Amino acid sequence: MLESADFQVRRIALNHGGGQMPALGFGTLIPDAATTISATGYALEAGYRHFDCAERYRNEREVGEALQAALATGRVVREDLFITTKLWNSNHRPERVKPAFDASLARLGLDYLDLYLIHTPFAFAPGDEQDPRDESGKVIYDEGVTLLDTWRALESLVDSGRCRAIGLSDIGLEELRPLYDAARIKPSAVQIEAHPYLPETELLEFCNDKGIVFLAFAPLGHGIRPGPLEDPVIAQIAARTGKTPAQVLLAWAVQRGGALLTTPRTAARAQENFDVTALPADAFDAINRIETRQRYNEVVKTGSPGFIPQNR
Ligand SMILES: NC(=O)c1ccc[n+]([C@@H]2O[C@H](COP(=O)([O-])OP(=O)(O)OC[C@H]3O[C@@H](n4cnc5c(N)ncnc54)[C@H](OP(=O)(O)O)[C@@H]3O)[C@@H](O)[C@H]2O)c1
Repeated sequence: MLESADFQVRRIALNHGGGQMPALGFGTLIPDAATTISATGYALEAGYRHFDCAERYRNEREVGEALQAALATGRVVREDLFITTKLWNSNHRPERVKPAFDASLARLGLDYLDLYLIHTPFAFAPGDEQDPRDESGKVIYDEGVTLLDTWRALESLVDSGRCRAIGLSDIGLEELRPLYDAARIKPSAVQIEAHPYLPETELLEFCNDKGIVFLAFAPLGHGIRPGPLEDPVIAQIAARTGKTPAQVLLAWAVQRGGALLTTPRTAARAQENFDVTALPADAFDAINRIETRQRYNEVVKTGSPGFIPQNR
């Protein structure tokens, strides 16, 4: 499944002939519109070709603008890009899936997607309100649709030829297993929080076994300190290998056999976060032995994101 030992050019072949995902991915969860455009541009210049978007991030238009600007120069071609976006919780009803997909494509300015993910397994009340709440402030869930109903609608998008692969995000093994068994088109990727403090080893093994790409978000622990970026084991390895702690964490994520998403906002950080090379085997093993456990993002428990820009 792994195409290259060089992490900067490593692409992972997706099942169902769904193209190849670059192991190093750029995430676009950026609160500010202008920063979204500039950071996406810096990422392209640094070498990123894999971009992770979501209708919930409310900035697909700005990501699209930066991608179109790069394509217009001719230095980047669409076939080299791997673009993902995600179906939000309030669009889980099957009849809402294609309109949501089409709207994302239009905002991004694309005519096909490389990967479309169900953002979380939680269905919210259907409608244009992304965060539906009752009078007491509780999320209004939708009991009238199952995850498999939504998945069937994503399968139809693959049939239509405008979506090369489909997958899930913020899902655990208990829900992934039955969905995998029932799926006509198996998931190509699963996007979840993963870093040395939340290695999700069982899920990683399931994914490797089934040919599903394990796509880690928060590989730097969302940048929260204290956290993996300041872990003494990571610091020691960084000092000994001449890498930064961020580069060590990103290397570990790829070296496990998966792909990752990181969100550098400046040109310097984009270059730093793309300059990722394999760790010595003993360093990799030492990170695997870290015992601290910490989840930073609670989205997996309720479907309500902890890191969504407000006011947009
Ligand atoms: N499926 C989901 O539910 C879900 C949830 C969250 C995220 N995601 C996806 O995953 C992507 C990655 O998000 P993330 O928060 O996990 O990104 P990340 O790159 O792991 O963490 C971002 C944080 O790390 C800091 N940082 C970035 N590069 C650094 C470096 N070289 N040294 C030190 N600090 C550094 C940033 O600081 P500055 O702010 O100073 O730049 C920022 O605070 C998102 O953009 C999104 O696409 C998905």
